[in-house]
Amino acid sequence: MGAFFCIFENQFYKMKRIVVLTGAGISAESGIQTFRDGDGLWKKYRFQDLASPSAWARDPKLVTEFYNWRRKIVWEALPNEGHKALVRLEEKFDVRIITQNVDDLHERAGSKNVLHLHGEIKKAQSSADPNLVYELDHWEIKMGDFCEKGSQLRPNVVWFGEAVTQIEPAMQIASTADIFLVVGTSMVVYPAAGLIVYARQDIPKYYVDPNAFKVSGISNLEIIKNTAGKGLPELVEKLLQE
Ligand code: APR
Repeated sequence: MGAFFCIFENQFYKMKRIVVLTGAGISAESGIQTFRDGDGLWKKYRFQDLASPSAWARDPKLVTEFYNWRRKIVWEALPNEGHKALVRLEEKFDVRIITQNVDDLHERAGSKNVLHLHGEIKKAQSSADPNLVYELDHWEIKMGDFCEKGSQLRPNVVWFGEAVTQIEPAMQIASTADIFLVVGTSMVVYPAAGLIVYARQDIPKYYVDPNAFKVSGISNLEIIKNTAGKGLPELVEKLLQE
């Protein structure tokens, strides 16, 4: 993982690395529902019926329609002030985003280093071979849309019970943080929620979320009980001034 350098007054400086773990809350102000708070998706539906391999085996059409509905919302959503604030951080820091979100709002805001732990809803995956992934140019996957091996296309997302194949690289990135941010996540889904443990204990950490709480065993954690759209711009301005 290369270090980022900047030149200031003819001196080379190694840019500090900020690692940001984001969850559904950072996209809430863009109109994308969260899962467990407010009118979150898993408050209305059972994820076992819509976001698991057994749901796909039982009723692939229902699962396909559920993700089409979510993908259409993502297609029409726009990045909010929280996403944009993280892009401004790149003026002075080497920023690495690790997101649990399947939307592409970080990328559309302009963030350059985004790792999707739970997949990307704007891509499709072969239901026969997970290595076959396809960019979608439209929000709808239809029954009968097949991969090159003749199997039905499914959403390119990690379902409950499936392996989080990107967790090793994510742990490595977390361990290199000079500053660690957590934004808009309930911190209840592992292994993502465990990434904060891989950040060095001595570095400053910030948790931006209206329901942020002191994560046990984590030191130097500042709680910012605010939305991403308000709390992040304020935090970013502070970090850029330091
Ligand atoms: N700004 C910041 N945070 C917000 C906002 C907002 N405007 N609105 C809500 N939140 C916070 C809530 O307080 C909550 O802590 O976002 C968090 C959303 O939590 P969850 O719905 O549990 O979402 P997340 O933590 O991302 O879930 C993790 O679970 O279902 C799986 O794969 C799914 O990636 C998801 C994972």
